Amino acid sequence: MADSKEIFDRLKQDHDKHRELLDKILQTSGETDERKTLFEELTKELKGHAAAEEQALYSTMLRKPPTTDETRHSVAEHHELDEALNDLAATDMSEGGWLTKFKTFDHDYRHHIEEEEDEHFPDFAKHLTEEDMEHMRTVFERRKKEEKAEAEITPEKKEDAKE
Ligand SMILES: [Fe+2]
Ligand SMILES: [Fe+2]
Repeated sequence: MADSKEIFDRLKQDHDKHRELLDKILQTSGETDERKTLFEELTKELKGHAAAEEQALYSTMLRKPPTTDETRHSVAEHHELDEALNDLAATDMSEGGWLTKFKTFDHDYRHHIEEEEDEHFPDFAKHLTEEDMEHMRTVFERRKKEEKAEAEITPEKKEDAKE
């Protein structure tokens, strides 16, 4: 039987993993294997998480009129964060500018997950049935694994992404 907090705890577990990865990357420098490996893991983890979160949680919330605005806001942020990851992948890691760009990404991503945890999730919980919770939990587990396995680093400069 699904506990009403279960799906949100599961998503927060992922967020904590993301914070750890961000912390580790902030401590790297230059075009090292360590930075490359961590950035690849971060990209796959974040793209996989966002896609599975959309398929499990946000698609459910889009069916609830009171949470449409919040849902649109978050999904739009997913798109922006995706573009920022692609922009980082298209930026020379050996130059100092990479870390400067990464710090902006770090700030924006932490803001996104804090907003989910502190504002969206508590609001969403008010509109969910037991059935929704079970559905979301099952879909998230299945899709997260598949989406992460399929996620790729796709370098694209921000200025080219709008076309
Ligand atoms: Fe998200
Ligand atoms: Fe999330």
